[in-house]
Amino acid sequence: MSIFSRITGGILAVTTLSISIYSCGEKKEVVQAKRGTIAEKAMVVSAREEASQIGLDIIKQGGNAFDAMMATEMALAVIYPFAGNLGGGGFMVYRMADGSVGSLDYREKAPSAAYADMYLDEEGNVITGLSTKGAMASGVPGTISGIFTAQEKFGKLTPQEVLAPVIELAEKGYVTTPNQAARLQRLRETFIEVNGPDTYFAKEIKEGDTLKFPVLAETLKRVAKNGKEEFYQGETAKMLVKHLQEMGGIISEQDLADYEAAWRDPIVFDYKELKIISMAPPSSGGITLAQIFGMIEPYDLKKFGHHSPEHIQLLVEAERRAYADRNYYLGDPDFVHIPKAELMSADYLKSRMESFTFEQATKSEDIAEGKFAFSESMETTHYSIIDAEGNAVSVTTTLNGAYGSKVYIDELGFFMNNEMDDFSSKPGVPNMFGLIGAEANSIQPGKRMLSSMTPTLVEKEGKLWMVVGTPGGSTIITSVLQTILNVYEFEMGMQEAVESARFHHQWLPDRVSFEPNSFDSTLLNHLKSKGYIILENNNPIIGKVDAILVMPDGKLEGGADPRGDDKALGF
Ligand code: DON
Repeated sequence: MSIFSRITGGILAVTTLSISIYSCGEKKEVVQAKRGTIAEKAMVVSAREEASQIGLDIIKQGGNAFDAMMATEMALAVIYPFAGNLGGGGFMVYRMADGSVGSLDYREKAPSAAYADMYLDEEGNVITGLSTKGAMASGVPGTISGIFTAQEKFGKLTPQEVLAPVIELAEKGYVTTPNQAARLQRLRETFIEVNGPDTYFAKEIKEGDTLKFPVLAETLKRVAKNGKEEFYQGETAKMLVKHLQEMGGIISEQDLADYEAAWRDPIVFDYKELKIISMAPPSSGGITLAQIFGMIEPYDLKKFGHHSPEHIQLLVEAERRAYADRNYYLGDPDFVHIPKAELMSADYLKSRMESFTFEQATKSEDIAEGKFAFSESMETTHYSIIDAEGNAVSVTTTLNGAYGSKVYIDELGFFMNNEMDDFSSKPGVPNMFGLIGAEANSIQPGKRMLSSMTPTLVEKEGKLWMVVGTPGGSTIITSVLQTILNVYEFEMGMQEAVESARFHHQWLPDRVSFEPNSFDSTLLNHLKSKGYIILENNNPIIGKVDAILVMPDGKLEGGADPRGDDKALGF
């Protein structure tokens, strides 16, 4: 037992979930292990109740997880345009009921006219805002290709059947939640600045207002009828390119026609008795998660106790080392060689941890810390689905920032991404998540930008055990890690694991972010005394995890993150 657990009166020795949570000063007064929504057969957990409901209804109608994916993803584009999208991209990891697994990469690509220094001025400095706002910030969108490619291969219904309730939602509209109204009010001036005063979101929107999207409904009807070709080669493609080029953008009709989602072998690795199946590059999620799990595996986390100093130190030190590798080695596998086996080898991971001690924080390399601030204006979204046949999909999709580049295509009814910022615009200069990139993630025409999105599935004893993922930029990987550990090592239920406070380290900047007001000062002071630099305020991005746990009796428990309007629904 650690010094800290002795300080807290040996409470951790008699670990029950509720007590160990109190011992770490979490703000939530959880007295009993808390369970989320329970269902017998099928479940959808997403960022909005209406999207979960539409996905679930598609399963009730005889569709499977891939039909529900198309329905949920498009419902999110209607009701959660903050991150749900037609103008962005994402990743999907699946596991069929027979145990076969795979993954689909529908990440955006750099347009063919893109080049390495495109965001630099004549002196070679990064031009602020060019990769994050306006028409130059967008990569070629992958979402429509992704959902059609997956549904075509595995789905059971027709796209028209799947998209009918989504089109109805866009036409009938929905009531704005307080969270959504606040976000739209905060960004209203920016929408006007980027798109002009006549743009859809120029209007004042208050909580409780009903928003309708007739133009988006028409776009969806054309896509439902003509398939993904409508978006990439049809009338929709022409309208999109015309709009972007009039705004000074560089995406061409050829770029859209050339876009294709790519099937990738997922990253599969073991952690103790779990088998973890996660996303391969161009997401860094799977490899970085594998490295962190590999580095912590030799230790008895359970014995340390949840949120004990040892638990936090061990994860932070493994994260520091894994993110250093991430930023140097990882990029689009179609463009750069990734030493995957070496990065994930047990010997290598053991050697990486040789410099680790519980006595003192390791210092990150002496590369100058980049200046960046976590800002609220970033969003991605994750949804988890298990269908009535036992197939599972884990999907994370994004526009990158909140409402992406803020460019709203008024004649089509959707926002465009600002995913180009996920490239390394200049070696050593951090992007909006403070991530520092290297040559492997430099801009090249047709290349996919490195991502942190980590849609993940976990098996236990050969059976599906968890579906998990989250938004949160660079914190995605560490939020997925902690959620899995909360259930496996610290014996929480799914909802409780999702709600539990989170912390994060990403090598550079060299500091540990803690969810505000959730960790007690004794613990934080103890870590400071060991040399950790702690950031507790101004770091709101710590994910919104939406997950499903298959319980020992076979029932499903949904974990929907209360940090957002997220909702688990099942039957
Ligand atoms: O792909 C990535 O890693 C980022 N574009 C994700 C952005 C994100 O999660 C923002 N959400 N908070």
